[in-house]
Amino acid sequence: MSKTILKLEHITKSYQDGSGKNLVLNDVSLDVNGGELVAIVGPSGSGKSTFLTIAGMLLSPDAGAITINGERVSDSKKKNWTKIRHEHIGFIFQSHQLLPYLKGLEQLTLFQDKKNRDKVNAPDMFTELGIEKCKNQYPSEMSGGEKQRIAIARAFINDPDIILADEPTASLDGARGRQVVEMIRLEVKKREKAAVMVTHDERVLDLADRVYRLENGALTQNNEK
Ligand SMILES: Nc1ncnc2c1ncn2[C@@H]1O[C@H](COP(=O)(O)OP(=O)(O)OP(=O)(O)O)[C@@H](O)[C@H]1O
Ligand SMILES: [Mg+2]
Repeated sequence: MSKTILKLEHITKSYQDGSGKNLVLNDVSLDVNGGELVAIVGPSGSGKSTFLTIAGMLLSPDAGAITINGERVSDSKKKNWTKIRHEHIGFIFQSHQLLPYLKGLEQLTLFQDKKNRDKVNAPDMFTELGIEKCKNQYPSEMSGGEKQRIAIARAFINDPDIILADEPTASLDGARGRQVVEMIRLEVKKREKAAVMVTHDERVLDLADRVYRLENGALTQNNEK
């Protein structure tokens, strides 16, 4: 049995807005094991990005704990959070956020720590993701799907334990979007990462191992899958 890599316990988060306190996450818990792709759906404004941002230690919850590989990282001092993120978390965003002046392969190698070069081979990632032709191309010469695949490869390049993706297919059409999620799934399984993906795209939900719905501050497992 695969072990729990990411553990989110009793996460609560409110934002202050004009009319008062807006409770976005109300005691939300989630465990994700290695090799597992979990999808989160829910209406716009229900707190999906907030939840992912907290899971990625980019935002503190008001209450609750984040544990990675058995270590309660949310107890750690704020000044250590950048290092924790760097060591444990890979992000995939809605738009690829590649640097316009770097060629495909450089988008990966420039961000890879020396110690991870033996663990994750950048050229092999291009082959696995079917984008070998992009190694020497600039983003302006690539299609949207190709750019998003490089963004996927980049999320894995420092061998993180956790992959977090916020609407990774939002800028792509149905077929390309599906391919991108298939690639995320492939790498998550192969490398035994714990992955959480927020999506509006119902057509990719069958690729997730579990699907949750976030609504009215609560996370509930979708039993239809
Ligand atoms: N920094 C902030 N300050 C105040 N309110 C915020 C802030 N960020 C988000 N919110 C509010 O919190 C709620 C949840 O936002 P969030 O972005 O997490 O939703 P979402 O489910 O990702 O929505 P979408 O599907 O549209 O991306 C929304 O009502 C939003 O307006
Ligand atoms: Mg969002």
